[in-house]
Amino acid sequence: MTAWCATALLMLLIAANPAAPAGNERREEEEEFGGGRGLFLLEKSKQVVKTEAGEVKVVKGFGWKGGPSPMHLGFISMEPNSLYVPQYMDSSLILFVRRGEAKVGWIYKDRLVEKQLKIGDIYRIPAGSTFYIANTGRGQRLQMISSIDTSESLGYGSFFISGGSNPTSVLAGFDSHTLATAFNRPHRLHQGRGLRAREEVNLHDAGDPNWGRGKGKQRWGGGKNMRMAEAPELRPVEERTRTPRRCPHAYNLYQRTPDFKNDYGWSIAVGEDDYAPLKHARAGVFLVNLTAGAMMAPHINPTAAEYGVVLSGAGSVQVVFPNGSLAMNAEVAEGDVFWVPRYFPFCQVASRSGSMEFFGFTTSARKNRPQFLVGAGSVLRAMMGPELAAAFAAGEDHLRKIAEAQGESTILPPWPRSERSPELWSQ
Ligand SMILES: *[C@@H]1O[C@H](CO)[C@@H](O)[C@H](O)[C@H]1NC(C)=O
Ligand SMILES: *[C@@H]1O[C@H](CO)[C@@H](O)[C@H](O)[C@H]1NC(C)=O
Repeated sequence: MTAWCATALLMLLIAANPAAPAGNERREEEEEFGGGRGLFLLEKSKQVVKTEAGEVKVVKGFGWKGGPSPMHLGFISMEPNSLYVPQYMDSSLILFVRRGEAKVGWIYKDRLVEKQLKIGDIYRIPAGSTFYIANTGRGQRLQMISSIDTSESLGYGSFFISGGSNPTSVLAGFDSHTLATAFNRPHRLHQGRGLRAREEVNLHDAGDPNWGRGKGKQRWGGGKNMRMAEAPELRPVEERTRTPRRCPHAYNLYQRTPDFKNDYGWSIAVGEDDYAPLKHARAGVFLVNLTAGAMMAPHINPTAAEYGVVLSGAGSVQVVFPNGSLAMNAEVAEGDVFWVPRYFPFCQVASRSGSMEFFGFTTSARKNRPQFLVGAGSVLRAMMGPELAAAFAAGEDHLRKIAEAQGESTILPPWPRSERSPELWSQ
């Protein structure tokens, strides 16, 4: 057992309803479409948990009428020695560890498994599986970004297993006779007297100020939306049961060789073939790093919408409507969230002052294979011929010259500002 376990104070983060929009809300979302800094920036985040131990913010994604349910993004930030209390959700999560270390405990095939996660790891928690998250980084803040797949959601979010007045355990809803029968233990379970260490189970109210007799009580105590107790000996699971067990592994993005790499950056796309749990999650994951001024060439995602988060640096994101008009050209910086509907052409450009790293989720577990429109290996190059030239009303040779001027593919070098842009489409 590590030292921190023995001495840690557990801070209980309480989530109110970090989830999914029900029918009505969804319509509102569609009405909000547009406005702000850009049509495809998701600027409104909702704080669903805020305590001294940390916070959870949710940025809601968009749904189209009749389309698949939207994906939301959760931003989880936890102080050292904090615990996100046991709960299950009506949405499935893919956690990405942005900073710090975490231990995720969850029920897998009826048994508790614990997974230690480090920076760069992704890990899936299915809807309906009870889980907790502990910050195990010594003196370190834990930051995670999570996809929230609402396709199975009823719009409630979290269901808490343990808790008192806030959150209230789902067990508290049963009547006392039922509880006495279920626990084979009468009355004390439902006196509303608060939890007494490990002897009694508090289901109806945790208002007892003596609850959690820990020495650090004053440190966090007081707020109604948080609670703490002396750590109940956070033993690793192996010690609890002796049988080491297999559980789904995590997948580390930073240890993977990029799928594409050149002098101007690299990109990684992870799908179900790389990490099987994504298959059930209906999501893919990507990570891109552009050097200063570099551009991810104009491209489309033929199979999925994409939700991106700028992890570091700054730049811009351009999205184009199907009718060929500009839908958004927005400056973005660390922490900004953008989304791009399936089929919509778009590109990202790093600012000239430094590299830009962005991470995100796609709404399909199939490996996202973007189709590049311009550059070597692009649709324009592959389809070069009289058909294309006819449609551009250009001579084929002229068009070929234009399309082949760009020798790089996928991630393109900055265009020198000093040079005048040639008139590409006039002959
Ligand atoms: C991204 O690229 C820059 C160089 O352009 C580099 O300094 C930085 O460490 C890279 N980020 C990651 C996460 O590899
Ligand atoms: C293109 O489509 C968008 C979205 O449907 C619309 O707002 C815009 O006015 C259209 N522009 C043109 C030039 O037709």
